[in-house]
Amino acid sequence: VEPTKEGERQRDARRPGTITVRLRINGRLETLTLDPRTTLLDALREHLGLTGCKKGCDHGQCGACTVLVDGRRALACLSLAVQLQPSEITTIEGLARGEALHPMQEAFIAHDALQCGYCTSGQILSAVALLDEAKRRVPSHFTRDVREPPGLAELSDEEVRERLSGNICRCGAYPHIVEAVQAVRTGDGGSS
Ligand code: FES
Ligand code: FES
Repeated sequence: VEPTKEGERQRDARRPGTITVRLRINGRLETLTLDPRTTLLDALREHLGLTGCKKGCDHGQCGACTVLVDGRRALACLSLAVQLQPSEITTIEGLARGEALHPMQEAFIAHDALQCGYCTSGQILSAVALLDEAKRRVPSHFTRDVREPPGLAELSDEEVRERLSGNICRCGAYPHIVEAVQAVRTGDGGSS
C-alpha cells in the first residue's frame, strides 16, 4: 500500500529526536516533524513532495537545488530547514501565478533554454534573483568597478554568465539560457 502524506507525517511525529518546524513555502504555512538536521532540500522533496527542487550534487556545487528565500537565491542542500522558519521560501512550483507562467519561465520555453530540464528549475529561480540583484546594483565577481556595479539596463551577457555560474547545465544550454534572461531583462520576453 502506498504510504499517504498524512500517514508519513504521523509516523514522523512519533519518531524520537524530531522537532516541529513551520515553513512558509509558496505562500502556504507547512508544519513538519523533522530531524533537526534535515536540509531544506530534503524537507521539500521528501516531506512535501515538491520535487521541482532538484538534488544534483547535494554539496553546494551545482545549483540544481536553488530556491528563493525572502527573494534572494539560496542553495536548499546547504540550508537547514529549521533555520528558515521566519522566511518566505519560493520554489519553482510557486513561481507561476495560477495558470500564468512567470515571464522567466515563458522566456526559457520561447528561447529553448533547456534540454533534459534537470537544472532548469534552479536556473530559472537563479535568473529571477539575478535580475533583482542587478536592480539593486549588487556587484558580481565580473564587475570591473564595484563602486559602480551595472544596473539592470547595462547588464551584459558576460555579467549574466558570471552571475549564473553557480548553476551548472550538463546539457550545455548556456547560450539559450543567457538569451532567455536577456529577453526578460529587456522586456522582449516579459519582465520580471
Ligand atoms: S544539489 Fe545543491 S548545489 Fe547541487
Ligand atoms: S538542461 Fe540538462 S542539465 Fe541543464
